[in-house]
Amino acid sequence: MAAIVVKDLRKSYGSVAAVRGVSFTVESGEVFGLLGPNGAGKTTIIEILEGYRNRDSGNVLVLGLDPQHGGTALRQRVGLVLQETAIAPQLSVTELLDLFGGYYPTPRPTAEVLELAGLTEKAHARVRTLSGGQQRRLDVALGIVGDPELIFLDEPTTGFDPTARRGAWELVRSLRSLGKTIVLTTHYMDEAQNLADRIVVVAAGQVVAAGTPDTLRGTGERRTFIRFAVDGIDIAALPLKAQVHDGVATIETTTPTRSVNQITSWALEKGLELEALEVTRPSLEDVYLELTSGD
Ligand SMILES: Nc1ncnc2c1ncn2[C@@H]1O[C@H](COP(=O)(O)OP(=O)(O)OP(=O)(O)O)[C@@H](O)[C@H]1O
Ligand SMILES: [Mg+2]
Repeated sequence: MAAIVVKDLRKSYGSVAAVRGVSFTVESGEVFGLLGPNGAGKTTIIEILEGYRNRDSGNVLVLGLDPQHGGTALRQRVGLVLQETAIAPQLSVTELLDLFGGYYPTPRPTAEVLELAGLTEKAHARVRTLSGGQQRRLDVALGIVGDPELIFLDEPTTGFDPTARRGAWELVRSLRSLGKTIVLTTHYMDEAQNLADRIVVVAAGQVVAAGTPDTLRGTGERRTFIRFAVDGIDIAALPLKAQVHDGVATIETTTPTRSVNQITSWALEKGLELEALEVTRPSLEDVYLELTSGD
């Protein structure tokens, strides 16, 4: 069953058309990534799905309900990590989690949430004394304290150090393994690549691409890059055309088996070692930059 269905969603702020006819579906139990440049409309879409903002037109169903009229019944099944929060700086971390848990029918134990979010050491600290990254961890903790079946994470790991980011990934994976549905926005392509089952890319309020991280990387022809260091190699003599950048030759091909064979046979014949030889597909970041380069 679909957890979320969005059809031809539109929303303007005065003369700014923020969302211009967006459609997508989020399946139950998947991690869904909403990507796009600053101002693309991601937060607007998420806030409409959360019931925090009314749409101008289009159809939206979240857990089978219209978020505009879902009321408490819907709110109790959904967890939120907003892009920006500033809540109760004078309370302690534990007090705030207890307070939020109280809004839900079956909250998770606060100690367990602290552990999951990596905040056990800060259980009794005042919220205002937390560092930026710890504050964000608290936001994530507040998003899961109600043990919701659907969780919206709007840039949950912005400001996290690399270790904390890996911790957050583990958290998302464990929520997924519990059968939760997760909608995630992020500007980190490695995060989307690692976590998302499916991705929709929006730019200027419209969907510009959709698919799994792997199918997106193969968008268009299935391209492969062959790269090696050019040190001491006469590029003009190569059997295939190469681009050279920062001392690295790149050959783009749609027939990697044949191309690798041509290059390596040539090198062997000449007695050359191709240092730092690698064969890679475009990263999600390469594809993303191409998709959104019009902005
Ligand atoms: N409350 C508001 N009033 C007026 N314009 C707004 C409001 N919120 C967003 N916008 C505009 O709507 C557009 C989409 O903004 P939105 O916050 O949805 O983008 P986003 O994709 O979440 O961007 P980011 O990656 O920076 O978080 C932008 O042009 C923004 O300036
Ligand atoms: Mg945003």
